[in-house]
Amino acid sequence: MKAVALTHYLPIDHPDAFLDVTLPTPTPSGRDLLVAVKAIAVNPVDTKVRAPKAKVEETPRVLGWDAAGVVQAVGPDVSNFKVGDKVFYAGDITRPGTNSEFQLVDERIVGNMAVSHSFEQAAALPLTAITAWEALFDRLKVSVPSQPTILNKTILIIGGAGGVGSIAIQLAAKVAGLTVIATASRPESEKWVRDLGAHHVVNHFGDVQSQLAECGFQTVDFVLILNDTDQHFPMAAAVIAPQGMICTIVENAKPLDVSLLKSKSAGFVWEFMFTRSMFQTPDMQAQGDLLNEVARLIDSNVLVTTLGKVLLPINATNLRQAHAALEAGHVIGKIVLKDF
Ligand SMILES: NC(=O)c1ccc[n+]([C@@H]2O[C@H](COP(=O)([O-])OP(=O)(O)OC[C@H]3O[C@@H](n4cnc5c(N)ncnc54)[C@H](OP(=O)(O)O)[C@@H]3O)[C@@H](O)[C@H]2O)c1
Repeated sequence: MKAVALTHYLPIDHPDAFLDVTLPTPTPSGRDLLVAVKAIAVNPVDTKVRAPKAKVEETPRVLGWDAAGVVQAVGPDVSNFKVGDKVFYAGDITRPGTNSEFQLVDERIVGNMAVSHSFEQAAALPLTAITAWEALFDRLKVSVPSQPTILNKTILIIGGAGGVGSIAIQLAAKVAGLTVIATASRPESEKWVRDLGAHHVVNHFGDVQSQLAECGFQTVDFVLILNDTDQHFPMAAAVIAPQGMICTIVENAKPLDVSLLKSKSAGFVWEFMFTRSMFQTPDMQAQGDLLNEVARLIDSNVLVTTLGKVLLPINATNLRQAHAALEAGHVIGKIVLKDF
């Protein structure tokens, strides 16, 4: 099968940062699906895993954790899917990634694609939708969709126009009924977050606390940090309401002073979307279930894809271009690559 892989961890401007290779097609066992990958999306985790280092892989390593495709074969214990089903998933960071023509993935972390979606629209969603859904509903404990929020609660979403922010805004505003204040620093990213449902927009490179006050908010009930935790945590601690909750998905480089939260009895929680698959938690199926719910919400016109740009085909040249854009830090929505 065709694949885009690496053997050396190189800067993205190096011509060999990714290689077009041919690898053996794997065979499914247990609860694995073999998926014929039709479209993939790139995420900052890809660039973090690819970050330059001395390590050399003996066999080409396939990255990538977002795909849409068609079930090609199933393992003997598979019960949720059959050959021919159109699926979307992020996969498992401990296994080979999505940047190959065929891939094995555990059925419990796979969802059925929205009927109304093309492969590229579907591939834009899984990793970020899982992250945003788990952050909002499992970590921040925002009221679950079946129990609509009755209080007019507020959420500050930092990094609103990125991949995760683009779906988090929609889930918070359209599914949970929260008042959403999103951050964006440029006219085009501000327009993008407003179009997705943000009620207010503030600039993450300015004084966020003062801008919130100008919008009429002294505090917010929830803060979701989707960029630069070191920069934003002290501000989040200052604006969080008494008994509010802060969630971050981005690793910190410096220690975080959680004592800032004590007098408010405010909470702090991490979201890492690979936790369930990495630790094979008993509730792994929750990711497949939430992807199915996201697809249902797409087909009901509640949510829209966060697809920003499509590159054709899936090859080393286009993957380098996509990684370079992510590393520059101002992508709007998702970059998707389509067809091998
Ligand atoms: N823990 C997890 O499970 C998990 C899952 C997914 C992602 N992540 C991490 O979350 C982060 C965001 O991922 P993503 O896919 O949303 O990234 P992304 O799509 O690359 O985010 C780009 C956005 O970040 C905004 N931005 C740039 N600098 C910022 C700053 N200093 N403060 C706030 N926003 C800023 C930009 O807005 P402007 O152009 O308007 O400045 C841009 O729209 C990455 O570090 C990623 O690795 C973690």
